[in-house]
Amino acid sequence: MQILPIADSFAHEVTGIDCSQPLSPETARTLQQAWSQHGVLVFRGQLLEEDALVRFSEAFGEPDRIVREDWASKQRPEVIYISNLLDRNGTAIGGLGAGEITWHSDQSYQKNPATGSFLYGVEIPKDHGATEFANLRLAYATLPPMLKSLADRAWGVFSYAHRSAAYDESPEASAKARAKSPDVLHPLVHQHPKEGWGALYLDPGTMPGIEGLPQAEGRALIQELQEHATQPPFVYRHEWRMGDLVMWDNGFTLHRRGHLDPTRPRLLKRTTVRLSPDLHIVPQTRMPEEALPA
Ligand SMILES: [Fe+2]
Repeated sequence: MQILPIADSFAHEVTGIDCSQPLSPETARTLQQAWSQHGVLVFRGQLLEEDALVRFSEAFGEPDRIVREDWASKQRPEVIYISNLLDRNGTAIGGLGAGEITWHSDQSYQKNPATGSFLYGVEIPKDHGATEFANLRLAYATLPPMLKSLADRAWGVFSYAHRSAAYDESPEASAKARAKSPDVLHPLVHQHPKEGWGALYLDPGTMPGIEGLPQAEGRALIQELQEHATQPPFVYRHEWRMGDLVMWDNGFTLHRRGHLDPTRPRLLKRTTVRLSPDLHIVPQTRMPEEALPA
């Protein structure tokens, strides 16, 4: 197995591994360490049934079931479909067929976000819908001092209601999900538990503001951090091929999908796992009514 940087980016490609086969503890540990440092790992040319995708994901943490049950596989509910395919009634079989194109971090609206994401490309139109990833470790390391000192002490408001308003295609399911997901607070900066480096934690489309700041001021700070964090040197653009498996650590990355042609079928399968805060950056959380930790 080899783990090498992709072009000049922070993302790494892993070769010489068949992800459908069980991982040895040593291989799993090597991949886990690389993932928690680099944020994005890419595996090309994989053939994965849903059972195999879940088994591979489980090597890194406990699988999570997201709030949108209507996007889940009927055979393996740990797997959700990201697709514009329609069922016989004309209803999308999965989520985000044409939506979710702005920078975000999966599950940031949750009290205990499951921060490990795996996305497997089953059917993908060529040259469409690339996914970009931004590295918030690099972004934090290069923040101007004024911005850094603001970010260091800020807690952001993360709101599912705010996020889902942008891509609401099923009001009923979305209302159910909203009821399960009250607003939460996370610090904007975290440290890697083993190595100590800092990284931003951010989700512009999910954050209506910053705790303790007037809304316009909070939004302006979020906007400024996003603009800094998504500059080309901190971004890896993944051009999908069928059979790609991409895993990313939402604890210190953002991602967004590029433009799609909705008439061309697209199907990806995603799993999400709960990463260990001893090994990965996992955001701290407070509820809005809770006091700051001492
Ligand atoms: Fe996402």
